[in-house]
Amino acid sequence: MSAGKEARYLTFALTKGRLAKKTLELFEQIGITCEEMKDPDSRKLIFVNEDLKLRFFLAKGPDVPTYVEYGAADIGVVGRDTILEEQRDLHEVLDLGFGACRMCVCGPESARAYLRGPGLIRVATKYPNIAKDYFYNQKNQTVEIIKLNGSIELAPIVGLSEVIVDIVETGSTLRENGLSVLEEVCPISARVVVNQVSMRMENERIMKLLTDLNRAVEAKEA
Ligand code: PRP
Repeated sequence: MSAGKEARYLTFALTKGRLAKKTLELFEQIGITCEEMKDPDSRKLIFVNEDLKLRFFLAKGPDVPTYVEYGAADIGVVGRDTILEEQRDLHEVLDLGFGACRMCVCGPESARAYLRGPGLIRVATKYPNIAKDYFYNQKNQTVEIIKLNGSIELAPIVGLSEVIVDIVETGSTLRENGLSVLEEVCPISARVVVNQVSMRMENERIMKLLTDLNRAVEAKEA
């Protein structure tokens, strides 16, 4: 269906912050603009492109998969870390390439021995589901998971845990705090997710959008 008068609005949930900025840059490359959204002083929560029948809103990362699963947004853009952690029912359809980093087990070099040893170690993380899956299902290792909400690197320094599971981008937070990557869990980058019903009901429109986005991503990578 083209964006004619019959078309309903397609709604996008974008992750607030750097990911949203990069996402909007990519959208601009495929002719999707939302001028309203660029105003840094605006307190508006939802932005509309009337011509293309598109709506956009910004949400906290962990809430994006929730909006998409329930169909409050047809499409979301969010980090793979959040998708894996939130475990929502949705289609993950496209890797946008940006926001690239790694989910890793990190700690002081001395913690390598604990990772190999038989003792019960403590793992601090903002991502308990990812940590559980990695240690319980992939490594068959029983660990104690301690949920934190930020500054995870503190945990092994102050003795809360032996290791952490966290995102490593440049590695400078680890270096500046005397910690290293001990094991790699998985690569992370920004992904497009789609509501399962929207994927069927708006298939043509969504596939066209994904094809355009994919082309723009490939052009960037070339
Ligand atoms: C993230 C992550 C690491 C850091 C990694 O934290 O949790 O702490 O970035 O980046 P680097 O490898 O480039 O140093 P964020 O800044 O999102 O804040 P948080 O500690 O509150 O999670």
